Amino acid sequence: MSYKEPAVKEKIEKLRKLKEKAKLGGGKERIEAQHKKGKLTARERIELLLDPESFVEFDPFVVHRCTEFGMAEKKILGDGVVTGYGTIEGRLVFVFSQDFTVFGGSLGEMFAKKVCKIMDLAMKVGAPVIGLNDSGGARIQEGVASLAGYGEIFFRNVMASGVIPQISAILGPCAGGAVYSPALTDFIVMVKKTSHMFITGPEVIRTVLGQETTFEELGGALTHSQTSGVAHFVAENEEDCMAIIRKLLSFLPSNNMEDPPIVETGDDPNRTDEALAEIVPDDPDKPYDVKEIILRVVDNEDFFEVQPSWAPNIVTGFARLNGRTVGIVANQPNYFAGALDIKSSIKAGRFVRFCDAFNIPIVTFVDVPGFLPGIEQEHGGIIRHGSKLLYAYCEATVPKITVILRKAYGGAYDVMGSKHSGADVNLAWPTAEIAVMGPQGAINIIFRKEIAKAKDPEKRRRELAAEYREKFANPYVAAEKGYIDDVIDPAETRPRLISVLELLATKREPRPAKKHGNIPL
Ligand code: HXC
Repeated sequence: MSYKEPAVKEKIEKLRKLKEKAKLGGGKERIEAQHKKGKLTARERIELLLDPESFVEFDPFVVHRCTEFGMAEKKILGDGVVTGYGTIEGRLVFVFSQDFTVFGGSLGEMFAKKVCKIMDLAMKVGAPVIGLNDSGGARIQEGVASLAGYGEIFFRNVMASGVIPQISAILGPCAGGAVYSPALTDFIVMVKKTSHMFITGPEVIRTVLGQETTFEELGGALTHSQTSGVAHFVAENEEDCMAIIRKLLSFLPSNNMEDPPIVETGDDPNRTDEALAEIVPDDPDKPYDVKEIILRVVDNEDFFEVQPSWAPNIVTGFARLNGRTVGIVANQPNYFAGALDIKSSIKAGRFVRFCDAFNIPIVTFVDVPGFLPGIEQEHGGIIRHGSKLLYAYCEATVPKITVILRKAYGGAYDVMGSKHSGADVNLAWPTAEIAVMGPQGAINIIFRKEIAKAKDPEKRRRELAAEYREKFANPYVAAEKGYIDDVIDPAETRPRLISVLELLATKREPRPAKKHGNIPL
């Protein structure tokens, strides 16, 4: 293209050069070092995450204003974070991608302003924010200005919570302040081997406590997905990480005023499945994999599990029923017989609250023998943590549908989406057992004296247990009272759930006005 005015041409040329320079971040050497560590650059990550050529950048010319420690001579265009917007499957998202090649991705005043700018815009237009994190934390040279910057981001994370989905990928070291912003977001994805999160690193731990640890042991992807529960997903590599984020977003609405997108899945809504009845064993003490049931019920066996490796005694995740997103919560008899404990209550409580915030109906599959007994649990605060799940179910106003598969005992019956905690439709399989506790425990309490007096106590115990089972260990006592809306043939679970979901699609449930409740944290 030729320009009439040579000065304009020059200016445009300068712009091009500046943009090229900005694209290099910390320079070729540092980019190579980044690649050598098995990591991509900030821009390569955005390319992988977004639809091709959809990214539009903001603030490529921003530089820091720090003059301490010789920083005046070290200004890099963009200041260590690439920000902007683009699309995922054609839907608008905002993204910031921290550039480790610039001051180790550390966050200073102007860096923070760039992140805040796109967070503010995302809030105004109602689109998700995705943070690609790879940062040494607060930029030491900028002192309190960088702490202020973090504070501004934290504040926005909290303001945006429950308004737009916020997703964090951890793609390198994330230390100090760099972990708290992700922790305030809805979901954290970590990458095996290359991503680490900690408040204080191994060096500080060695100095202060004399304890030896490694990055990986302290805050690697496996630690946070299996031990701490900080991470929701683990990716094999960065490509996998971006694929996980894209898939996760496919289930979610762009903001809390929208419903999740309805997808044409091609799976027959009237599909029945005789094999469902074969999964729950006759013996009530035998474990089984509740995920087999979930997979057979949902569209195309597509179940996107959240936190699969932490608190596996409860299963949480997203799926679709006739194309509509649902959040699934299910006790998992394969671990601790599906009993609720501290971790599983926290895991499912948070998941239920996410679904409620973003208009995602909750489908609960129940097979729970109660809360896990034990001194460790009691002293760990199971009373406080267990109430989180109870609170979350009671608080949720999205459609809530519950299917009792087998055991629904004691307090756990109330907690797991019971009619009394506000569920809209409660179904049970004929194999359901709804009671205050299991037969053995119950008869040992109410017939203790009678058993002790019996000629053959063991025989009497067996007889009483059989009577109790006959009387209580079935769904009909609850169904007589209307606590269960219907007892269904397991084969019909999918069509029934779909029918009920359609029925509840327009559900509205106002609650008393208040500033906010006081969930037992
Ligand atoms: C300024 C930093 C930096 C930081 C790293 N760099 N962290 N610059 N502020 N916080 C710079 C390094 O000087 C180096 O610059 C470049 O980034 C790459 O760092 P390396 O150390 O060479 O890389 P690596 O060996 O991979 O180690 C990465 C790291 C380590 C684990 C992140 O740099 C590190 O431990 N950094 C400090 C982490 C930390 O304690 N941050 C402060 C947290 S306090 P050159 O020019 O040499 O390449 C905090 C408070 C906020 O965040 C609280 C809010 C609640």
